[in-house]
Amino acid sequence: MSRRLFAAADQERAEAILSRMTLAQKVGQMTQAERMAATPADVRDYHLGSILSGGGSCPGDNTLADWVAMNDAYWAASMDAGPGRIPIPILYGVDAIHGNANVRGATVFPHNIGLGAAHDPDLIERVARVSAREILATGVEWTFAPTLAVVRNDRWGRTYESFSEDPEIVTAYAGRMVRGLQADLETDAVIACAKHWVGDGGTTDGVDQGDTAVSEAELERLHIAPYHAALASGVLTVMASYNSWNGEKCHGSRYLLTEVLKGKLGFEGLVISDWDGIDYLAPDYGDAVALAVNAGIDMFMVSAKWPEFITQLLRHVREGTVPVARIDDAVRRILLVKLAYGLFERPRPAERPWSCHASFGSPAHRAVAREAVRKSLVLLKNDRAMLPLSRGARILVAGKNADNRGHQCGGFTIAWQGTSGNEQVVGGTSIWEGIRAAAPGAFLSPDGAAAAPGRFDAAVVVIGEHPYAEGMGDLRRPDRPVQRGSQALPLGTTLSPYGDTLELAATHPEDLAVIRRIAEAGIPVVAVLVSGRPLVVNAELAAAAAFVAAWLPGSEGQGVADVLFGDYPFQGRLSFSWPRQAHGDANRGDPVADALFPYGFGMD
Ligand code: BGC
Ligand code: BGC
Repeated sequence: MSRRLFAAADQERAEAILSRMTLAQKVGQMTQAERMAATPADVRDYHLGSILSGGGSCPGDNTLADWVAMNDAYWAASMDAGPGRIPIPILYGVDAIHGNANVRGATVFPHNIGLGAAHDPDLIERVARVSAREILATGVEWTFAPTLAVVRNDRWGRTYESFSEDPEIVTAYAGRMVRGLQADLETDAVIACAKHWVGDGGTTDGVDQGDTAVSEAELERLHIAPYHAALASGVLTVMASYNSWNGEKCHGSRYLLTEVLKGKLGFEGLVISDWDGIDYLAPDYGDAVALAVNAGIDMFMVSAKWPEFITQLLRHVREGTVPVARIDDAVRRILLVKLAYGLFERPRPAERPWSCHASFGSPAHRAVAREAVRKSLVLLKNDRAMLPLSRGARILVAGKNADNRGHQCGGFTIAWQGTSGNEQVVGGTSIWEGIRAAAPGAFLSPDGAAAAPGRFDAAVVVIGEHPYAEGMGDLRRPDRPVQRGSQALPLGTTLSPYGDTLELAATHPEDLAVIRRIAEAGIPVVAVLVSGRPLVVNAELAAAAAFVAAWLPGSEGQGVADVLFGDYPFQGRLSFSWPRQAHGDANRGDPVADALFPYGFGMD
């Protein structure tokens, strides 16, 4: 059950503020614009309640000082006490989904799929604490995390945002993640956002933004279950999901948003729409706005379309198609979240204790990420006890992902779709850099050309995917392109998915070629897979003597070396069934024969 979120004193204050607000001010509070589409003057003139950064949307040179200065300007505009205004401090939101990874020099944690393999709720709370501090360092108050998706088909491009295919781990982590982010709410915390409500991980064939066709009992058992834990830990915000449930879009579902989430589960905080997510509700934007507000969405992530959103919502209230009581309910929730967070008492961002704090990207923070990397590694094969490697051995390091911090961080790092190479991920170590630090004699040859009989005792070949985010990471049939709208792209633009199969040898044949080249020279290979999901790697597994699933470890590649050289044991256990064939829908509880390695597998 959800707990009482708001103190009586805050409720009184919210009522007092609400009673003084004009309709324009109320509708403004319900609006969240993207930073590139709204200036501080817009915040002042239209009373905007919130601004966000879309993936990779960063001010200036993306330094802490740039972020804090930007937030200062928005905050000052929101606090303007000029005529016709009630100062209400603004909330700034970001996708800090694996650390505050859009910001240069941040500590980048493993994506959720790796954390799921760690099976360590205490670690999760510490990861969230560090993330909160690195978010606060930028003057930001709100992160769109944790993702509570329970992914039922690994072809989904957002599989890496999920802790597990099974609600058990997602539920065990949900509350701890919220506690870590929101601990000490009034001094030392950020506002968390459980997303995406609901059924995001259950779409048919794993299609991003698709349809989750399951019974209500199944929706509850698999997809709603983790939200009970997040709500019990006091999560203040929830994001609606792009997907549909049995053909009805979640963004327009009064049943799911108002009756289930706010009614049955008792959620008192605010529900935010996903990025332009209401656009898909109806061909006419005005109709879409009314549908979404009446369904129960309180704040609207409307990126560049915010002026049109405001115009339409004002019209609907005037015409009576959206009741004033619904507007008041939405604004009350927004004010209560701001009050509970102590936002009204906080000084401007630059004067807050954690702004530009020296702990950002510090060794102490990176040590937590490195621990998370170590605990997330899953050993799938280890013939003739190849691992751990000896530091004195002559080690060849190869593979396209060996020296690529961008690739090992994955999507939602610096840019929405992630980056390639080492340059943009400032700080940390690539997997190769970690190995070199542990074994100074190691030798890097990305394509394995240096492999010659007798020259090396062992090889570490780092293979896998390159970064992607959302639908662009889907593995789907070529006749089903990704439909996407954003600030830069008109609604319905078609984009290419990552590929059409889970089979690594088909999508990335270069990986198998490098492993084989080295193995044929008589050098036993340890394959390290960097990927956002389990992949069909039957051929690579057969060609390698040892095989490690490293997921998307983030900035601290050294954590991989820590375990390869035996300083720490392998302790990761699969939180996803490992597929034998390319359907991607083998899950815990299915006939064992479907999975190559079952849920929970992992060698010591
Ligand atoms: C994403 C944003 C991203 C934007 C880029 C949107 O669909 O949700 O995070 O920044 O596209 O145009
Ligand atoms: C994603 C959300 C994200 C938002 C803001 C959307 O495209 O689905 O998870 O929070 O963009 O970047």
